[in-house]
Amino acid sequence: MDQPIEGKIRILIVDDIPEGREGLARLLSFEPDMQVVGFATTGAEAIDQAQDLQPDVILMDINMPDMDGITATEKITKMVPTSVVMISVQSDRDYMRRAMRVGAIDFLPKPPSADELYSTVRNAYMRRPPPTTQPSSGKEDKKKQQGVATGKIIVVYSPQGGAGSTTIAVNLASGLMDEQNRTVLIDANLQFGDVAVHLAVRNERNITDLAAAADDLDSELIENILLTHGTGLRVLPAPQRPQDAELVSSDAMAKIVKEMASRFSYVIIDTSLHLDGITVQLFDMADFLIIVGMPTLPSVRNIRVVLDLLDQFENFDPNKISFVMNKVPADRKSGALDPSAISNSLRLPILSIIPSEEKPMLDSLNRGVPAIVNSRQSPGREILAFVNAFKNELAGAAEEELPDLQEEQQKKGGLRSRFGL
Ligand SMILES: Nc1ncnc2c1ncn2[C@@H]1O[C@H](COP(=O)(O)OP(=O)(O)OP(=O)(O)O)[C@@H](O)[C@H]1O
Ligand SMILES: [Mg+2]
Repeated sequence: MDQPIEGKIRILIVDDIPEGREGLARLLSFEPDMQVVGFATTGAEAIDQAQDLQPDVILMDINMPDMDGITATEKITKMVPTSVVMISVQSDRDYMRRAMRVGAIDFLPKPPSADELYSTVRNAYMRRPPPTTQPSSGKEDKKKQQGVATGKIIVVYSPQGGAGSTTIAVNLASGLMDEQNRTVLIDANLQFGDVAVHLAVRNERNITDLAAAADDLDSELIENILLTHGTGLRVLPAPQRPQDAELVSSDAMAKIVKEMASRFSYVIIDTSLHLDGITVQLFDMADFLIIVGMPTLPSVRNIRVVLDLLDQFENFDPNKISFVMNKVPADRKSGALDPSAISNSLRLPILSIIPSEEKPMLDSLNRGVPAIVNSRQSPGREILAFVNAFKNELAGAAEEELPDLQEEQQKKGGLRSRFGL
């Protein structure tokens, strides 16, 4: 077997039938970003190979003589951070459900078409769990021990309901997360937060559990409370019931966010549209504020109101705002406002335009998989472009980090003081 090549998706093929293995390997050999790193012909061999080779993706046949693919998957996913895709002639829903329950990430029919195979492997690669040990520099470890924030706080906000604040937050978090950059997504829409719905994770454990111990947050507690989405993204959901919102004070929120920033490279925070004390405090703490709008009059009007308000705060740095236009109809005759006219009127450059695509967004919601995972089709493609554009902003900001400006802002007392916090 060839040596693994850096930057390629490393794939292990498991099938007891030689033609099955060869057929898949042949199709995969045509894709420049994919490499077959090993084969296994039995379930037991699959477990050994998965441990030795640590592949990114495993293509797993369901029927094998010694051990079925579902049992092998169950054992492998407990030991190795990898994405398992089941391949089966049976399109039996019960099989699929059982496989998903033991950790399989997707399904392919046997034999799959080339396109199906390539897009499923890429999706599975993006959704693979993070490695069990996180690489981190000694310097960062020390900072973390001292509770010093090293991560960037990125707040996502829309002053108009339904514009896509949660969609952008969820996709940005998924897109920023990688092996070097641990990422956590916090749902700070305390009354009606639906990050857990977008990601199809349960929110029994949620931000109220951390708020109750905000003065004494330790690794074990945080590990126990944060949920892990199938992609490996860590999530702190909003309370289950709106009346529990009051269990999270602005002081507790600040402590939670600071603690997360000392442990994660990126802390993405989805917010409620209400400009209450907590939301304003988050604007103040943010290194970046992403404002999400849509091309409708109410959305543009509300953004103008918010910009005018922020403008009154002399300590607020408008350079930390990024503006994203979501739900832009492809059809110019739809009556929607023109994004460039909106940008001119608000005097706010648009970082990215994301088209309105109902069907894929509905699928994404139903499956609990962020649209960015399907970046070959719209709007996943444009969402990926937005994440890349935002990564450039992050890189630009890192270059011109101005310590004196930060100091000056602190001296001025912060945005929160305006809201009597
Ligand atoms: N580009 C898009 N095309 C089509 N539908 C979209 C798009 N972006 C988001 N949606 C859908 O619009 C609905 C509202 O999106 P989302 O929940 O992200 O908005 P929000 O600003 O967080 O709303 P809320 O005010 O409820 O917090 C969701 O059903 C989502 O799937
Ligand atoms: Mg929302």
